[in-house]
Amino acid sequence: MSDLLRIEDLHTQFHVHGGTVKAVDGVNLTIPARATVGLVGESGSGKSITALSIMRLLEKNGRITQGHVWFHDRDLIGLPDEEMQDIRGNDISMIFQEPMTALNPVFTVGDQIAEAVRLHQKVDHQAGLNRAIEMLRLVGISDPKRRAGQYPHELSGGMRQRVMIAMALSTSPELLIADEPTTALDVTIQAQILKLMRNLKGEFGSAILLITHDLGVVAEMCDSVAVMYAGRIVEQATTEELFASPKHPYTQGLLASIPRLGKKQERLHVITGSVPNPLAVPPGCAFRPRCPIKAPRSDRDIPPLTANGSAEHLVACWQYE
Ligand SMILES: Nc1ncnc2c1ncn2[C@@H]1O[C@H](COP(=O)(O)OP(=O)(O)OP(=O)(O)O)[C@@H](O)[C@H]1O
Ligand SMILES: [Mg+2]
Repeated sequence: MSDLLRIEDLHTQFHVHGGTVKAVDGVNLTIPARATVGLVGESGSGKSITALSIMRLLEKNGRITQGHVWFHDRDLIGLPDEEMQDIRGNDISMIFQEPMTALNPVFTVGDQIAEAVRLHQKVDHQAGLNRAIEMLRLVGISDPKRRAGQYPHELSGGMRQRVMIAMALSTSPELLIADEPTTALDVTIQAQILKLMRNLKGEFGSAILLITHDLGVVAEMCDSVAVMYAGRIVEQATTEELFASPKHPYTQGLLASIPRLGKKQERLHVITGSVPNPLAVPPGCAFRPRCPIKAPRSDRDIPPLTANGSAEHLVACWQYE
């Protein structure tokens, strides 16, 4: 499969009172065309900032200081703002972690989707609105014509999330970035939304970068998984391979912490310690303070992400050197 998106050595930093937060600190990640890639990791590991860096939608105090984001053969990092806007309107869409922040409260949801379509397809507003209603129907909203005339605050959380998905897919993007698309929803609606994303993927052929902390969602949805820790990818493999033989001690800890169905409930395995203070990441491997292995060299040098066993299984740990 050819690569749709290739992130190379990406660094994103924030200037804050008291120093510099290295939120993304050398990320390498590849998304093949039409694939669904999961991105998992503890809170604060840099998943959302990786996504926002791809979209170049960072807050004012944030800056991409190094690296490349290849989309086809174009590096998004150096692109002029207008061209980047064009990419966001046509080729890459994002579903945000909190839908209320992405929807404009003063416009009806129909008008918002119609505007996205109008800019993308260069059609008039009425044609855009018809397409918006069709999209709302497609994401399973009943009475879509009436709903199109409503404002975001008039909809439930689950419905707003569907509206976001409708809006994100209305331009048939090649890449959909979904940041915790179901975390805020209850379990039944969560299952519906995931099913919807799978169907729509079949329909539009989009690739998906799915950010989640839910390994069950990953198992169900993703072709491959990247595991993030303290601003870096520490392991990437096909979903099957990662679940069957995790290689990084952090991944092993994560997997050991999920309760298994049908197994007598033992005490949950918990990785001791916590993520490093982003203002004072230790030298060498950032996971070392919590690592049961503590491989030689890990106190001094950051382990690179390298192939291990097969070309598709990448891991960043000195124990395999
Ligand atoms: N605007 C900002 N200013 C300063 N630091 C920030 C800013 N946005 C994010 N960060 C920091 O960057 C790091 C990565 O944050 P990010 O939101 O990417 O985490 P995440 O993996 O998405 O976590 P979660 O699972 O909670 O959504 C965190 O330490 C966070 O505090
Ligand atoms: Mg996040």
